[in-house]
Parts: sequence; C-alpha cells; structure tokens
Amino acid sequence: MKDSSLRSILITGGTGFIGSHTCLKLLEKGYFLYVVDSFINSSPKVLRKLEELFPQGSEKFNQQFNLIEGDIRDSTVIENIFINSINQNRCIEAVIHFAGLKSVEESLLNPSLYWDINVGGSIALVKVLEKYNCRTIVFSSSATVYNSISDSPLSENCEVRPCNPYGETKATVENILRSLYKNKRKDWRVINLRYFNPIGAHSSGVIGEDPIRKTNNLFPYLSKVASGNKEVLKIFGNDWPTFDGTAIRDYIHIMDLADVHCLALEYLLQKEESRFLCLNVGTGKGTSILELLKTYEIVNSCKIPFIYVDRRPGDIAISFAKTELATSILNWKPKFDISDMCRDGWNWQKLNPCGYQ
Ligand SMILES: NC(=O)c1ccc[n+]([C@@H]2O[C@H](COP(=O)([O-])OP(=O)(O)OC[C@H]3O[C@@H](n4cnc5c(N)ncnc54)[C@H](O)[C@@H]3O)[C@@H](O)[C@H]2O)c1
Repeated sequence: MKDSSLRSILITGGTGFIGSHTCLKLLEKGYFLYVVDSFINSSPKVLRKLEELFPQGSEKFNQQFNLIEGDIRDSTVIENIFINSINQNRCIEAVIHFAGLKSVEESLLNPSLYWDINVGGSIALVKVLEKYNCRTIVFSSSATVYNSISDSPLSENCEVRPCNPYGETKATVENILRSLYKNKRKDWRVINLRYFNPIGAHSSGVIGEDPIRKTNNLFPYLSKVASGNKEVLKIFGNDWPTFDGTAIRDYIHIMDLADVHCLALEYLLQKEESRFLCLNVGTGKGTSILELLKTYEIVNSCKIPFIYVDRRPGDIAISFAKTELATSILNWKPKFDISDMCRDGWNWQKLNPCGYQ
C-alpha cells in the first residue's frame, strides 16, 4: 500500500538536467512524483540514477517515483496520468513544467518546432490541468525573455522583449499563464522562474547535464574540453565592454536551482488565494567567461585550451540578475559559489565521460 499522506506532483521534462536534480530534492522531501518525458533531450537511465541516490531504498523510491514516457502535446498522455492519480487516490495537486526545448541557436534555425513544443505543449498541458482542476504551476522561464539592451542587474520589472524564437516562446507561455490567472482570479497559482545560467551537477556525480541535442551552452562544452573529448573551447568575442573583454553571465548551481523549485512549490501550495509571480533565479553575481574558465582550471587542476572567435549575433555583454524578489518571497539564498559549480561539474564529467550512455 502506498503512503497516501504524500502530496502528488506532476513533473514535465523531469528526466532533463534541471528536472532530474529537482526530482531528487522533491523525493527527499517525500513528494509522490508523476514524471512525464518524451526523452527528446534526456535518457530514461536517469530513473536508475535517481534510485541509486534516493536514501530510503528502492521500494520507497518505486512508490514515490512514477515515470511515464510521453509527449506533453499529446493530451491523452497527460489525461491518463491524471486519471491514474485519481484511481490511486493521489490527486495531482501541482505541476512543475520543465518540458521544452532550450537552444537559442536551434530556435533560430527551426522556430516552428520551438513554438510547437514550447507553446503548443504548454497549451495542451494547461487544458488538461483546467479539466482536472489542477491550477498550481511552477514554470521554467528564462532570462532570455528580457530586452537584450536592458542594463544589469536585471529586475523582474525590466522590459520583456525577447530577441529570438526561444525567448519568445518562454515569454508567450508566461503570458498564457497570466491570462489564465486574470480570467479565473480565484483559481490559478503561478510562479514563472526566470533562470539565469544553471551549471554544475549533484555532488555525487551520479546525475548531471547530458544533453542529447546539440547545445550551445558554455559549461557542458567547457567540461568536454577539460576532459579531452573536445579539442578547444571557442570564446565568442574578447572585445566586449567588460573588464577582461569576455561576456559576463550569472551562473547558479543546479542544486540551488533545485531548492528554489521546492520552495516555489511549497509557497504556492500554502496559499489559499490565486497568485501570479515572475521571479529571477540567479546568484546576482556576474562572472566573465575567462573567470569561469580560470576557476575551473584552478579548482580541478586541469587545462582548458581556448581560442577567441567572433561574437555571435544576438549575444550581449553583460547579464546578471537582481535577486531580491526571490530571496524575500521564497526566503532563499544560494549556498554554492562558482568554485563549487566547477568542482561538481567536473566530478560529473570525470565519472561519466560519455554521459548516461
Ligand atoms: N538549462 C538552462 O540553461 C535553462 C535556462 C533557462 C530556462 N531553461 C528551461 O528550463 C527547462 C528545463 O531545462 P533543462 O536544462 O533541464 O533542459 P533539458 O533539455 O535537459 O530538459 C527538458 C526535458 O524536457 C523533455 N521534453 C522536451 N520536449 C518534451 C515534450 N514535448 N514532451 C515531454 N518531454 C519533453 C526533454 O526530453 C528533457 O528531458 C526548459 O524548459 C528550458 O527551456 C533552461
């Protein structure tokens, strides 16, 4: 018999990078998880890795973690999950919606795919949520929703004006959720988490970032160069108006980000009345690419060959978050710094040179 005191949550995209680390935290807190993923950018092997990390053993893990292969655009998949949860006397109370594609570069090459999965998938999802009266959602938004000419630190009040299809899809889903909240004021409880740059891995090195699709994220590439899987790191531009000429970003440890999801969920579940919030999630500190690279080399005693190449179109010099709102609303502060991120990211890379293969 399953312990019915556990709260049930639907996690879309829960075997991906951020989803897998968040699932671990939620499992440790005792939530019962229905995880749906199409594995378009992740591996089903994450299941066994989470089981390995779960402190209370396999039996409890199998009670708490329910993985369903499926696409969020297929409403029957999501409906069946809700029907199952009701039949098991475990009504799903909230959703953390990670599922989506995340490459700016790929979204420029194939915008319709991004609109279909990120926006079409979210619409299909919320229709089922409405039908089953599940109106509490934490959504994975992004710092790319901001106007690229706004000065950092970026606050949640800065203009939302994305400059690529990926960012446009994220801003659109935020708008859809805002309309739902406005039209049904008493119902929807929404937090859009605008992530800055999540990097690193769980300190065990058992789970980490292993994208299947081509990624233009810096950190997984840097780790591959450090391990010799890739020859050289290309740094896009050394003539930015920053102290060392390389672009500045706000990096956040993946386990800090996982904590934020748990807190956002708990915050919404405790509220009786409707809510709509957009929260930046970063550390509030800017780090240049050269600083990140040098820290990685020092912390991990390794060498990262690099070359400078031209700037990429659409890139910006400096982006970091104003984080006071998330800090005050969620009573949260990041625990990890850049050295921790580099250490844990390298540990994952060393232990899993071929990812989850
Ligand atoms: N990693 C970042 O730098 C970053 C920054 C800002 C926002 N985000 C957003 O956060 C979310 C999670 O990011 P991540 O880094 O974990 O990416 P990820 O690709 O590792 O995880 C996304 C997961 O969603 C799944 N998925 C994609 N389309 C699906 C569909 N139609 N149906 C079911 N599953 C589907 C993928 O297989 C994958 O497991 C994404 O929405 C992303 O856009 C990520």
